Amino acid sequence: MKEKIETLRQTITSEIEQTQTGRAVYELKVRFQSELKEIMSGMKDLPKEERPAFGKIVNEFKQAMEELFEARSVVVKEMEMQKKYASERIDITMPGKTRKAGALHPITLVKNQLIDIFAGMGFKVFEGPEIETDYYNFTALNTPKDHPARDMQDTFYLAENLLLRTQTSAGQIRVMEKENPPIKILSPGRVFRSDDDATHSPMFHQMEGLVVDKGITLCDLQGMLAEFARKMFTSSTKVRLRPSYFPFTEPSVEVDLSCSECGGKGCRLCKGTGWIEVLGAGMVNRRVLENCGVDPDEYTGFAFGMGIERIAMLKYGVNNIKTLFENDTRFIEQFEE
Ligand code: DAH
Repeated sequence: MKEKIETLRQTITSEIEQTQTGRAVYELKVRFQSELKEIMSGMKDLPKEERPAFGKIVNEFKQAMEELFEARSVVVKEMEMQKKYASERIDITMPGKTRKAGALHPITLVKNQLIDIFAGMGFKVFEGPEIETDYYNFTALNTPKDHPARDMQDTFYLAENLLLRTQTSAGQIRVMEKENPPIKILSPGRVFRSDDDATHSPMFHQMEGLVVDKGITLCDLQGMLAEFARKMFTSSTKVRLRPSYFPFTEPSVEVDLSCSECGGKGCRLCKGTGWIEVLGAGMVNRRVLENCGVDPDEYTGFAFGMGIERIAMLKYGVNNIKTLFENDTRFIEQFEE
């Protein structure tokens, strides 16, 4: 029996060296226990006087083996931890994976600023449809079918009487049909024209304004535009009105701002004139008021319309309208404030 114990000791001692995991140590221990039990079951065949001495040997053996298992468990546990650390290792000096934050498009920035400025003067925002009828886009705006002013804009027609709106002015009619004066609305949106060069795009954005009330005059328009110019550009920006023509306004004006680049002295941007044309405006033509059921003898109004791209290009010094639509993020993200 002593030999059996010796063999078991050797087997376990050599095999335990091979174990790499806690599970393997545990399984070896179970095997050891069952084999020891087997050996001990032979004790009853020993002469009585030899039993105590043998029992002592077995106990010592058992204790020594338990210590061995215990020690190996500690070693294996450490090995397992090291393996885990190695597999989970991260290099904190490596550059992180960053997700690019977006930025508002310059057109959106300018649109938001315009809304802020005019909302401060009591304007409400109204958004009209991009697909319009011929009536809202032209006829109701005092531009009948044979009117020469229709040649001013090359229109995308979808059907006989359906088109992509060429101007946000169409929204004026929609508002005046529904609401009674006093009216003070701002109408931003996309417009479409068959036009394409460095300063024109077939799709662009406009901001329309309309005020209708008793006693509204051209002075109100001028004062409000002066406020807009100071807030959008600089506090010293001046406004100039020049006579012009639009079928839906009478009188009509073209609005210039003093050049923000040279302060009015004359430079390349303003082509030496000191002024930059930014929008069209005028007193709402009495025919337009009549078309919407507003009495022109009781109410007067002014309207204005500007290209948002044009304002953005002037404000940010962009010289080709196409760069606004290429969606190059390196370009777009420069403008976020
Ligand atoms: N709708 C005109 C255009 O697209 C701009 C315009 C001019 C709007 C005069 C107005 C206005 O409201 O009064 O060219």
